[in-house]
Amino acid sequence: MDLKQLETQLSVLHEDTIKAIVAAGSLDALRHLESGVLGKTGTLGALLGTIKEYPPAERGKVGQTLNRAKTEMTKAFKEAEARIKAGAAAAESSKAATYDPSLPGRRLPLGTFHPVTIVQMQVEEVFRRLGFLVETGPEMETEHYNFEALNIPKLHPARDMQDTFWMTNGMLLRTHTSPVQVRAMERHGPPLRVIAPGRCFRYETIDASHENTFFQVEGLMIDRHISIANLIAMMKLLLREVFGRDLKVRLRPGYFPFVEPGFELDMSCLICDGDGCATCKRSGWIEVLPCGMVHPNVLRSGNIDPDEYTGFAFGLGLTRLAMMKFGVADIRGLNGGDLRSLVPASRLTGPTVSAKG
Ligand code: PHE
Repeated sequence: MDLKQLETQLSVLHEDTIKAIVAAGSLDALRHLESGVLGKTGTLGALLGTIKEYPPAERGKVGQTLNRAKTEMTKAFKEAEARIKAGAAAAESSKAATYDPSLPGRRLPLGTFHPVTIVQMQVEEVFRRLGFLVETGPEMETEHYNFEALNIPKLHPARDMQDTFWMTNGMLLRTHTSPVQVRAMERHGPPLRVIAPGRCFRYETIDASHENTFFQVEGLMIDRHISIANLIAMMKLLLREVFGRDLKVRLRPGYFPFVEPGFELDMSCLICDGDGCATCKRSGWIEVLPCGMVHPNVLRSGNIDPDEYTGFAFGLGLTRLAMMKFGVADIRGLNGGDLRSLVPASRLTGPTVSAKG
């Protein structure tokens, strides 16, 4: 075979080989094909073995031609191999991404509000309906609003009733929500209906029923001719809404410098309905909220004329209320952040929040 014939044969072989490479669907098929062409006994391999049969003058040219063909085909096999490997990897990953749309969805765990927040929202809702404003005051207060404006001057023994966290800047962490009474009077003037929920702080040793951080809702209603009857009616309404049934209430005298007269309001025990049990210490009553008629000095602090206006105020212990409503026995569970004591209690009746908000 002369050089011309060799070249023709090689170009046919090249064309056939490329076609076969394209048709090869697997690495095995490709390798089989490769050894059939490039192997020692393969079509091209055998041709390479014929170089020495050519006259010495032509050998160089023949060798070049054959080697060029070998290089081209080797390259074509390499490329095909890479293509097949990439295709196999893509098939593998798309298999992993397929999913079954008929499978049941995974349940998202729902969050829930804190028990105190639930009760706070309920109380706010009741009072908003009655036309009360909802105000907040600062948690870091001045001595003026926390004590003096509330008829508790310096050195007054009543300051000992509320152990106070004093700040190095001369301010304090409010010991109750009552400072918002005077702030609201100053801001809005009479007549006035306002509640003020919020966090309070006392320098207490913590145990099952005492916390250094707790929540109250202050209530204040000021107008002409406000009487104790208004106070009682409002408190009964509040307790009915929060506990979902009518409860008996009673007033006992109570002392707070910023109310006169001052009361402790008790409600009939939820557990025994007033018959007497361990929870109410056999009395049939549970102490829920201190209250009273706003002291004339406090009205004056808020620039309101006590000869023209009267009002009542109450300080509802939100934390206590949440404990009673959800049956939380230890107050430490509420601030502890342990979901085992928070979630089951509030999930029973509380609204839940979904991931959508
Ligand atoms: N501020 C009082 C306390 O925390 C409660 C209270 C509020 C009493 C309003 C009477 C009227 O102890």
